[in-house]
Amino acid sequence: MIFSMKRRVDPGKRAAGRSAVEMVEDGMVVGLGTGSTVFFAMERLAERIEGGLSITGIPTSYQAENRARTLGIPLATLQDHPSPDIAIDGADLVDSHKRLIKGRGGALTREKCVAHAAERLVIVVDQGKCAQKLAGVVPIEVLPFAVLPVLRCIEDLGAQPVLREGSVRDGPVITDNGNFILDCTFPAIKDPEKLEIILDATPGVISSGLFTRFTGKTVVIVGKADGSGAFNL
Ligand code: 5RP
Repeated sequence: MIFSMKRRVDPGKRAAGRSAVEMVEDGMVVGLGTGSTVFFAMERLAERIEGGLSITGIPTSYQAENRARTLGIPLATLQDHPSPDIAIDGADLVDSHKRLIKGRGGALTREKCVAHAAERLVIVVDQGKCAQKLAGVVPIEVLPFAVLPVLRCIEDLGAQPVLREGSVRDGPVITDNGNFILDCTFPAIKDPEKLEIILDATPGVISSGLFTRFTGKTVVIVGKADGSGAFNL
């Protein structure tokens, strides 16, 4: 193993992640999101594969790929399977309409590609991620070439952008796609759909962490804080 699988076990995340795997059927192509909650889904998938389930995973990041390989989950790419049957992913915030903020882990662009391509999107969260309205920090992946013009555009929208810096390296975090992340604090997000369109249409923005367009095919599974089970939002 060339990377750490160490993590704190959060019972709510574990319950949500494991519960999502009930929706996976034999022969499916499954998008594999990034982060600690999806990892529990991957562990459960690996158990079911051990028991005879046959699936193919499409990882959304190097982290997802490394973890899935270690767990023995067969992998392919969106080039092999452009329309996965289902994608399982985490989120940083979910509102009552199943609109999401994602990207704390910096994998938002590939996650958005897989969410868009998949027939169904299953979001796994603990109870602390549920809110009435979206607000706070929206991560945005930006082409390094255009980071300052993009930063100004975001300020013009009333937000405070901060270039994400590494904790174990000096300088900006570089995404799996070779780009920067701006963490943008919005005091309020009155119209998340409109904001996503504006952000994603800004030259230099690769994609924003607002996911408002998938609500029709999204199931949100919320793990109970004590780990005793999960329910659909
Ligand atoms: C990564 C993401 C993650 O899905 C999100 O940050 C949730 O992570 P976790 O399950 O570790 O709380 O969007 O880009």
